[in-house]
Amino acid sequence: MMPSWRLAGTLMPSMAFLSCLRPESWEPCIEVIPNVTYQCMEQNLSRIPDNIPSSTRNLDLSFNPLNTLESQSFSKFPELQVLDLSRCDIRVIEDGAYQGLGQLSTLILTGNPIESLAPGAFSGLSHLQKLVAVETNILSLRTFPIGNLRALKELNVAHNLIHSFKLPEYFLNLTNLEHLDFSDNKIQSIHYKDLQVLRKKPLLNLSLDLSLNPIDIIHPGAFKEVKLHKLTLRSNFNNTHVMRTCIQGLAGLEVYRLVLGEFKNERNMDSFDKSALDGLCSLTIEEFRFAYLDEFSGDVTGLFNCLANVSAMSLVNLYVKNLENLPEDFKWKSLEVARCKFRQFPPLALPSLKELNFTDNKGAVNMVDIELPNLEILDLSRNGLSLRHCCSSEDFGTTTLRHLDLSFNGVILMNSNFIGLCQLEYLDFQHSALKHTNQFTVFLCLHQLHYLDISYTHIQVVFDGIFDGLTNLKVLKMAGNSFKDSTLPNIFRNMTNLTILDISECQLTQVSKGPFDTLPNLRVLNLSHNHLVYLDLFPYAHLLSLQVLDYSFNYIVASKRQALHFPSKLTHLNLTQNNFACSCEHQSFLQWVKDQRGLLVEAEQMTCANPPDMQGMPVLSFRNTTCQINKTTISLSVLSILMVAIIGLLVYKFYFHLMLLAGCKEYGRGEMAYDAFVIYSSQDENWVRNELVKNLEEGVPPFQLCLHYRDFIPGVAIAANIIQEGFHKSRKVIVVVSRHFIQSRWCIFEYEIAQTWQFLSSRAGIIFIVLQKLEKSLLRQQVELYRLLSRNTYLEWEDSMLGRHIFWRRLRKALLDGKTSQPDGLADAENVHQEATTAI
Ligand SMILES: *[C@@H]1O[C@H](CO)[C@@H](O)[C@H](O)[C@H]1NC(C)=O
Ligand SMILES: *[C@@H]1O[C@H](CO)[C@@H](O)[C@H](O)[C@H]1NC(C)=O
Ligand SMILES: *[C@@H]1O[C@H](CO)[C@@H](O)[C@H](O)[C@H]1NC(C)=O
Ligand SMILES: *[C@@H]1O[C@H](CO)[C@@H](O)[C@H](O)[C@H]1NC(C)=O
Ligand SMILES: *[C@@H]1O[C@H](CO)[C@@H](O)[C@H](O)[C@H]1NC(C)=O
Ligand SMILES: *[C@@H]1O[C@H](CO)[C@@H](O)[C@H](O)[C@H]1NC(C)=O
Ligand SMILES: *[C@@H]1O[C@H](CO)[C@@H](O)[C@H](O)[C@H]1NC(C)=O
Ligand SMILES: *[C@@H]1O[C@H](CO)[C@@H](O)[C@H](O)[C@H]1NC(C)=O
Ligand SMILES: *[C@@H]1O[C@H](CO)[C@@H](O)[C@H](O)[C@H]1NC(C)=O
Ligand SMILES: *[C@@H]1O[C@H](CO)[C@@H](O)[C@H](O)[C@H]1NC(C)=O
Ligand SMILES: *[C@@H]1O[C@H](CO)[C@@H](O)[C@H](O)[C@H]1NC(C)=O
Ligand SMILES: *[C@@H]1O[C@H](CO)[C@@H](O)[C@H](O)[C@H]1NC(C)=O
Repeated sequence: MMPSWRLAGTLMPSMAFLSCLRPESWEPCIEVIPNVTYQCMEQNLSRIPDNIPSSTRNLDLSFNPLNTLESQSFSKFPELQVLDLSRCDIRVIEDGAYQGLGQLSTLILTGNPIESLAPGAFSGLSHLQKLVAVETNILSLRTFPIGNLRALKELNVAHNLIHSFKLPEYFLNLTNLEHLDFSDNKIQSIHYKDLQVLRKKPLLNLSLDLSLNPIDIIHPGAFKEVKLHKLTLRSNFNNTHVMRTCIQGLAGLEVYRLVLGEFKNERNMDSFDKSALDGLCSLTIEEFRFAYLDEFSGDVTGLFNCLANVSAMSLVNLYVKNLENLPEDFKWKSLEVARCKFRQFPPLALPSLKELNFTDNKGAVNMVDIELPNLEILDLSRNGLSLRHCCSSEDFGTTTLRHLDLSFNGVILMNSNFIGLCQLEYLDFQHSALKHTNQFTVFLCLHQLHYLDISYTHIQVVFDGIFDGLTNLKVLKMAGNSFKDSTLPNIFRNMTNLTILDISECQLTQVSKGPFDTLPNLRVLNLSHNHLVYLDLFPYAHLLSLQVLDYSFNYIVASKRQALHFPSKLTHLNLTQNNFACSCEHQSFLQWVKDQRGLLVEAEQMTCANPPDMQGMPVLSFRNTTCQINKTTISLSVLSILMVAIIGLLVYKFYFHLMLLAGCKEYGRGEMAYDAFVIYSSQDENWVRNELVKNLEEGVPPFQLCLHYRDFIPGVAIAANIIQEGFHKSRKVIVVVSRHFIQSRWCIFEYEIAQTWQFLSSRAGIIFIVLQKLEKSLLRQQVELYRLLSRNTYLEWEDSMLGRHIFWRRLRKALLDGKTSQPDGLADAENVHQEATTAI
């Protein structure tokens, strides 16, 4: 039997080869980023899959029944940086389980019921920065073997069974630790000696979270000489009394940020007495945050006395009722009041305040004047506020305001033009209802303003001067408003610095060039969600800096002009969600779309709305060849109908000539049955019978004439007989011209066919015999005949001896011309010669 390692040796390369071909061979894991990130969550894996590349850096093995981590479990993955082992039912972690993971920075062990943790469990993790050991049955930090994790920055041991807050000696090794999360453990008391390592000051910047521990007592002086970056104590105390004594126990602590309060769903205290915060006077605090305390409704005077010197105060989710009468000597620079309940808007007056964020509160619906002379940032958004006057320095008691946010409020009456607030740089009114914006140049003095948002403020712009004065504006957002006549007026005058303009959802039906003439720096123009029907890039041709043009969600059918000149710097043109007509009528536009695919945003998503058979199809799928086929078929069919008509006409007109032609081909130059076919008027039949037939057929040599009274086949149409019997089977045609002949239309018809026959058979075959002297006037009736007779020689019948003799001689000679079966060639030549001499 083949040893298994040899079998593996032969199998491995072929497996590797297969895995090259089949990327899905990482199954059951998901390849998020090839060679880098693999997700094997909840796959019922009892061991680490070995088909994952060793270059993997992020590996998620959560929710698999791994149970035991043996030594060197992950040595195959030396590049690992993030390893998630959440809820893997890990009970045992042996020595050196993570050995070889020198690059690992994050290890997540959440939700494993660890029973046995070997002393060297975390050895080798020299770069581990974050260890999450939430809900891992830790009883004590003392036995938690992390003393070697010198790189550790964040340790989360929340939701465990730790009773003692004593930080073990090994914390002296963790000089980089910044976050220590102890929340939701069983800590009841904190003693002086617990924090001994922190007094040795290796950890200068530690954030400590002790929330949700049922703390009964913090022994006085426990935090003495301790310096923390942040201390969080939320939902720790059952009642005001415990809270007060515990806060007194914090005396001597120097903390940058202190967070007190409860959690929304973890309320322990029934009542709150403002004396609970008295102990804060013996702490050094820079920022204070107070969250979720109900029953806060009494008189708050004096509540914050111990917090008079903090620079930032934050009140979140409190029922404050009123916040008046804050002493003027408070040093607060920043005040955040969010999601609180009030009886009325607090008429704040604090000289120190530079930043006020009063957002998302309830009950403060009518704005009152405030007196904040040094305020620079004022955020009053999302309070449902109504402002009866806006805006001037008197309303806010400040002339230093730079940032004003009044978004998501109620009705705001614009009845002053920012007097005393001319240095505003940022102004946001979105989703509040602005009134009286059209009556005067509201923003006239705001030369410093670079951001203005008046989106969805129910403005109908009728006044061209609405934005006059905003010469430094960089961003203007005015989506969701409307314009008189749904046409954009010339309102962006002197806004040379504007870079972003949003006029989406403004019911615009057309855009003209004028308004954009003065915006050389505009980079983004948003026209989406309007009612534009044609794409016309002409108005933007002079926007020299335009990069993004959003035309999505309009009713664009096609382009207005043939040539689409667009700004030279344009990189994104969004035409998605329009009503494109994918018909041949617009094929040049549709071709343009294909050509500009790189410029168009999500060109593949652009779909046709018309014609019905193209509805929902991608615009790019339109083929202009169908148009060409249509065009050619139409022109071809028109042409062929015309041809058929013309041919029909011609056939109708030259039916007999064609028959002649057909005959010519059919009979070729084959054997001729007759020497001549005689065309004559029936009135001259006597002469033909008595003179012509007698003299020619009975003379020497005898000629065979074709005569219709004698040779035509009965039952065949006369015309057909003329052609088939007469012309096709005869070498020559004798035309007997007389007064009767000229007057007979039938004879003239026969003569015309004879002419065609002569032309087609290219033989000089017509011999004219003129019976009587004809008056020229009569002859002229038949122009063609007249011309022929006057140009060619013809035989004239003369009823005299000499005349007869010459006549028959000449006629015979003419008939002999071209007769192949003539035996007497010499005589013929002589005759010709004779004839030639007599003719002279
Ligand atoms: C993944 O790694 C293998 C072996 O190191 C290499 O051949 C392959 O090209 C890599 N794939 C990608 C997408 O980087
Ligand atoms: C998980 O795998 C074990 C064997 O490794 C098997 O007994 C069990 O049925 C599997 N569970 C599921 C849900 O597939
Ligand atoms: C702290 O670091 C030193 C030096 O690296 C080491 O000898 C000692 O064992 C570490 N302490 C603990 C508790 O791991
Ligand atoms: C202290 O840590 C906080 C984050 O917890 C950080 O923002 C701050 O910059 C740090 N301060 C110092 C002095 O390192
Ligand atoms: C505090 O609350 C815990 C849990 O709700 C309770 O067991 C304990 O008795 C309370 N302590 C006091 C002093 O009320
Ligand atoms: C605030 O600082 C002033 C002096 O700057 C001091 O007199 C006062 O006691 C301090 N108040 C508190 C509560 O620390
Ligand atoms: C107050 O609002 C401003 C602007 O919205 C924001 O930049 C700042 O971070 C906020 N401050 C606080 C403490 O929430
Ligand atoms: C436009 O901005 C530049 C600097 O960003 C400034 O120098 C210039 O004065 C501004 N133009 C106008 C018209 O305010
Ligand atoms: C635009 O600015 C020029 C000078 O900078 C000024 O003369 C003109 O009145 C301004 N136009 C408007 C409409 O504000
Ligand atoms: C234009 O405005 C719409 C909303 O009206 C928004 O969805 C879209 O992202 C904006 N486009 C750009 C380029 O900012
Ligand atoms: C149109 O495309 C631009 C550029 O990619 C994008 O920012 C914008 O959000 C798009 N518009 C909509 C309505 O999605
Ligand atoms: C039709 O498409 C071809 C190739 O896609 C293109 O070269 C041609 O110009 C298009 N014709 C018209 C009329 O757009």
